[in-house]
Amino acid sequence: MKIIALSCTQKRLPSMTDALLEAAINGVVREVGNAEVQRIRLIDHRIQMCEGEDTCLDPAVGRCTIEDDFERVVAMADGAQAMLLAMPVYAGNVPAILKIFQERLKSFMNASHRPFGDLLVGTIVHSRTMLTEPALGSLFPWYLRLKNKNVASACFTQGDHPDLTQTAAYDMCVAVGRQLGMTLEARDRALLPLAQSADRPRCGA
Ligand SMILES: Cc1cc2nc3c(=O)[nH]c(=O)nc-3n(C[C@H](O)[C@H](O)[C@H](O)COP(=O)(O)O)c2cc1C
Repeated sequence: MKIIALSCTQKRLPSMTDALLEAAINGVVREVGNAEVQRIRLIDHRIQMCEGEDTCLDPAVGRCTIEDDFERVVAMADGAQAMLLAMPVYAGNVPAILKIFQERLKSFMNASHRPFGDLLVGTIVHSRTMLTEPALGSLFPWYLRLKNKNVASACFTQGDHPDLTQTAAYDMCVAVGRQLGMTLEARDRALLPLAQSADRPRCGA
């Protein structure tokens, strides 16, 4: 089972975002027997801004014509069923690197299968002092458009604990990963359709 681990830090060197993401990876690997984790650090790739030309929407062209690492990153997500996304809050919102990536993914708007779409997702957002929840909320229109389903999320502010891995935040990240893993496993065993079947008492019945 392929799971993308998307780190949206803008630090070149391993950062708090990466450490929290690793905790969530530990969690998902614990629950999913055959987990194949594809780590992607956006900052390690050359992904330029969309230039707004809409050539990708022109049927004669049909693809983004910017020459950079974007298509390689898209290919890394091929065949994934789930994603763990970890990001810091920058200026009260998602880091620019993620916004740029979201905009570039628009080039697949008319594709039958949208990369980074149809995934179960676990999300981790952290910041120094504030605004983790609004930043988390700003991901949901994007998830919705890609038909992604967020099954677990966790938000942390550092406050007096610059190293969040030494706090209960670490366990909560593991829990996000485990919850994603359990949901994947349950879906695989087709337990979810069973739970939603006619045998289940209906509201008002
Ligand atoms: C450009 C920039 C903007 C930031 N904006 C916020 C913010 O709005 N609120 C906040 O609490 N922390 C903010 N921070 C602090 C980061 O969220 C925090 O340092 C986080 O741990 C960085 O994660 P990283 O090490 O993975 O980059 C900002 C940091 C940077 C570099």
